[in-house]
Amino acid sequence: MHRLIGGLREVVDRGLPPDLTAYLVGEQLAPHLGAADLLTADQQLGDPDRYRQHLIHAESDGSFSLVALVWLPGQHTSIHDHVSWCATGVHQGTESERRYRLVPDGRAARLIATEDVTNPVGAVCGFAPPGDIHRVQNCGSDTAISLHVYGADISRIGSSVRRVYRLPSDER
Ligand SMILES: [Fe+2]
Repeated sequence: MHRLIGGLREVVDRGLPPDLTAYLVGEQLAPHLGAADLLTADQQLGDPDRYRQHLIHAESDGSFSLVALVWLPGQHTSIHDHVSWCATGVHQGTESERRYRLVPDGRAARLIATEDVTNPVGAVCGFAPPGDIHRVQNCGSDTAISLHVYGADISRIGSSVRRVYRLPSDER
């Protein structure tokens, strides 16, 4: 874990554009995913009520944070977007992700599902707002764990969620 955090710091400190930072951070995550000694036993614990976030590291200057998200079977997020760039990697199990686009609808707006992605162990993904609306779910029958790196201080703001969308959504 020490080595991973050092690698993340090296990438983030380069001060590159958000989308490129997210991509390169994903590359740093990839070789560590699935390693048996990456997370402590506590960091792998779920919560029967909702998916659980474990804060693993928050950089002292607020430039990035690393969390582990633990999903019991069937647990999911709301439809949301993020306050900053983000890179994710699946460490255990399989995560299903549905991505959305926000489209005008008269004076309001609605969501259109654009893509369904299934992410197995080792899959990494980097993105930067805008256009990062999605919902993540554990569709498998075992616990799923993913690592998320955000370009924000999660120890201060608590969550990477910028906005939760409760708009009508079209399913594909
Ligand atoms: Fe997200």
